[in-house]
Amino acid sequence: MKEIEKLIEETIKNKKNSYSPYSNFRVSALVKTKSGKIFKGVNIENAAYSPTICAERSALASAISNGEREFSYIIINGDSKDTFPCGVCRQFIREFADCDTKIVIANSADDYKIYTIEDLLPHSFSKKDLEN
Ligand code: THU
Repeated sequence: MKEIEKLIEETIKNKKNSYSPYSNFRVSALVKTKSGKIFKGVNIENAAYSPTICAERSALASAISNGEREFSYIIINGDSKDTFPCGVCRQFIREFADCDTKIVIANSADDYKIYTIEDLLPHSFSKKDLEN
């Protein structure tokens, strides 16, 4: 089994940890750092709705909180076919993804598509804009 297929299976398995009693829509995300570590996240909803955090930000927050900054994979699996990251998550991913970061929209280990952040958020505002 290819590495990406194993990562997808792990992502899907983790969806059981989604805390989504309001939408009943589960999302799981897994990030692999360039140093080889894996961090997982799920969507975590809230009775007040707006404090909800998406799975992608949850996984990245965990990795970043543990000192990681560079990512080789961001794998996403949700309850709909081709669950893509929301706009807020795309901007959040923009901060830490480079052109080598594979963003994988996964339905199963043999049904997935790979994107870059440039594909998902073209013409973005990023830290480069603040360099001057
Ligand atoms: N959700 C994610 O976790 N990631 C996305 O990119 C899309 C939406 C979650 C938020 C909420 O808990 C549920 O899916 C329905 O919107």
